[in-house]
Amino acid sequence: MLSSFASPDVAPSSASPSGKQSRDHEDVVYEIHGELFSDEIMPWKQSCRRNAINLAEGFPDFPAPPNIKAAAVSAITSDFNQYRHVQGICDLVADKMKQMHGLDVDPVTDIAICCGQTEAFAATMFAILNPGDEVILFDPCFETYETCILMAGGVPVYVALEPPYWRVDEVKLSDAFTAKTKALVLNSPHNPTGKVFNMEELQMIAGYCITKDCIAVTDEVYEHITYENEKPHISLASLPEMQTRSIITSSLSKTYSVTGWRVGWAIGPSCIAFAIRNIHAKITDSAPAPFQEAALTALKSPPEYYKSLRKDYEGKRDFVLKLLGDVGFQVEFMPMGSFFIFAALPDTCKLMDVEFVEELIKEAGVVAVPGCGFFHTD
Ligand SMILES: Cc1ncc(COP(=O)(O)O)c(C=O)c1O
Repeated sequence: MLSSFASPDVAPSSASPSGKQSRDHEDVVYEIHGELFSDEIMPWKQSCRRNAINLAEGFPDFPAPPNIKAAAVSAITSDFNQYRHVQGICDLVADKMKQMHGLDVDPVTDIAICCGQTEAFAATMFAILNPGDEVILFDPCFETYETCILMAGGVPVYVALEPPYWRVDEVKLSDAFTAKTKALVLNSPHNPTGKVFNMEELQMIAGYCITKDCIAVTDEVYEHITYENEKPHISLASLPEMQTRSIITSSLSKTYSVTGWRVGWAIGPSCIAFAIRNIHAKITDSAPAPFQEAALTALKSPPEYYKSLRKDYEGKRDFVLKLLGDVGFQVEFMPMGSFFIFAALPDTCKLMDVEFVEELIKEAGVVAVPGCGFFHTD
């Protein structure tokens, strides 16, 4: 079972902290490449129906920083309300890449601002994939990737991480590459396990990307939420020979607690960034103008901001770990980053994960995600 500890201390209330209760409650079934998908099982829908606390999605219940909110309000009142590209975001993101990873990024040619990491990832898939191209993903996996790959005509190929520490098995990784492999997706810090890929694993993955001539697409939305002795996050793109074959995707969402603002970016070689910008222009035109303006304030946050974000989440992680342990859950792997905990059901529990989560919603008014929802391999 997966639970997010972004909001562990929410009191039951008639309104979900996300405000998502206003969404339509009709179930939607849609088809992609012959596969039917239903949103009936979506966590927000379950939490609305049952008026439950939603620990199943990656968003915090606490307020966004006041200075960032003030910047958004000021942008609206100053009439930054039309289609807009805020080049200053690219300048600040390029500076950040230099400071965090030593990467030289041209803010004019190498960055596409998108509506969150989600659109940046989707546009990247449309930019790099031809029908039938294979994309390697580590399993368990954040569920959005597969849909984007399928929509772009690609074929997801899963490499199972080895529980309980979610290590990469080199043989499995090597076997996953074929003549059709176009890209590999790496999400670190990782949803849903809380794993942060270590240098040895990153080197192994980079080695395969280079020898197999494969593009690496990274999802780094939890780049500032890591716990291991405050060890900074390492981007796969920063390893030798990797920048020219990497596309980094990230966003404001998790770092500044503004998941609803929909501002993110893709950073890559200029020819790919150009394609992503063009696709973005056709899909959404531009990210929300006032929130792009506010991003200028967010991205200038001082080091203390990131330090306290990390510390607060670490406290929440420890609180939830103890709570789960006290009621018999087994958490063999302590999350090293992101804000998720992957817990095995207590030995005394005879229910399957889906049944357990259904009971949890009904009996305790808490929504978590059944672990099986993240797995695509046996
Ligand atoms: C791993 C991961 N990537 C991306 C996202 C979505 O990011 P954004 O809000 O920037 O679209 C989430 C949200 O839960 C996530 O967990």
